[in-house]
Amino acid sequence: MSLIDEPLPPPAAPAEAEKPAGTLRPASGARLVDPFGRHVTYLRVSVTDRCDLRCVYCMSEHMTFLPRRELLTLEELDRLCSAFVARGVRKLRLTGGEPLVRRDLMRLVASLSRHLACGTLDELTLTTNGTLLERFAAELAGHGVRRVNVSVDSLDPERFRTITRRGDLHQVLRGIEAARRAGLKVKINTVALKGVNEDEIVPMLEWAHGEGMDLTLIEVMPMGEIEPGRLDQYLPLPLVRERLAERFSLIDLAERTGGPARYVRVRETGGRLGFITPLTHNFCESCNRVRLTCTGRLYMCLGQEDAADLRAPLRSSASDELLMAAIDDAIARKPKGHDFVIDRRHTAPAVPRHMSVTGG
Ligand code: 5AD
Ligand code: SF4
Repeated sequence: MSLIDEPLPPPAAPAEAEKPAGTLRPASGARLVDPFGRHVTYLRVSVTDRCDLRCVYCMSEHMTFLPRRELLTLEELDRLCSAFVARGVRKLRLTGGEPLVRRDLMRLVASLSRHLACGTLDELTLTTNGTLLERFAAELAGHGVRRVNVSVDSLDPERFRTITRRGDLHQVLRGIEAARRAGLKVKINTVALKGVNEDEIVPMLEWAHGEGMDLTLIEVMPMGEIEPGRLDQYLPLPLVRERLAERFSLIDLAERTGGPARYVRVRETGGRLGFITPLTHNFCESCNRVRLTCTGRLYMCLGQEDAADLRAPLRSSASDELLMAAIDDAIARKPKGHDFVIDRRHTAPAVPRHMSVTGG
């Protein structure tokens, strides 16, 4: 948390207050291209570091969350997202923590949906733990959200409660149903945990595909200081894939999302299965994304420490000129790749911040 738990910069005098808020400089149409020629078209935005669950691989039992005043307001989040959309970002994903615990999030979703309506944004999506989906699914769909990713690590209620330290599986399943009734496409994310849910991977696959939902397995990533050792949780997905291949025909799919997922079609179920393997495979060469935290720090790579503060330029001027310059500087620093390592010599996290800070 130390990374983003910095004192607020002193409020700077609005240097260009005469310009109307949200004005983009003429060069605003310039696309974001990093030094390796990768186009940044995807922004993931953590709208809060808070969550109503405490998944064992993500958070410690007793988390200290950021004081609310540190957070960007919904208006500031909107302004930042809109600046990225003006610079060619075509896909926005709201994450957290748990995005749906952020008060009035629907106001932000409603406001961002204007970019969908005018065609400058292809997709507005959400990664959620599903606990509040029952309440918000219809509203999300009403604002043009078409897909959500829901994290489910077990279909056994007791095990689900153990992994999440408090979650109610049935509430999440009701959320998933509500989302599908509202017309949202649901993808299930499951973190593969050695000795915890590895025996459930086949049942999860059969359930998800049986319901017409894609399933993506995620390798546990070494982020944030949490209680149990990483080595205990780490289950390499190539091993999972090998085991699955004994029972199912896995057909490689060419489709790429510019992220760490690789997909196969499972012939027997007809469904799609994704593998997110940051530890065993390098997916950096096709990376098209950057991540914004709820305090306005921009991480150019999930696996690197370097981040750019966008909150100061955002707050120091009502025009977007300084903000755009800060975004350009940041993209120019996007590193070639990450260096996650989990082995016996590296049990400390490669990156000390929690996933709930940068939002996966
Ligand atoms: N490693 C892998 N996945 C993680 N998630 C959260 N923390 C970690 C971690 N350390 C997952 C959540 C969710 C997605 C946003 O990231 O389970 O599916
Ligand atoms: Fe919350 Fe997601 Fe972290 Fe679980 S993994 S504690 S649901 S943010």
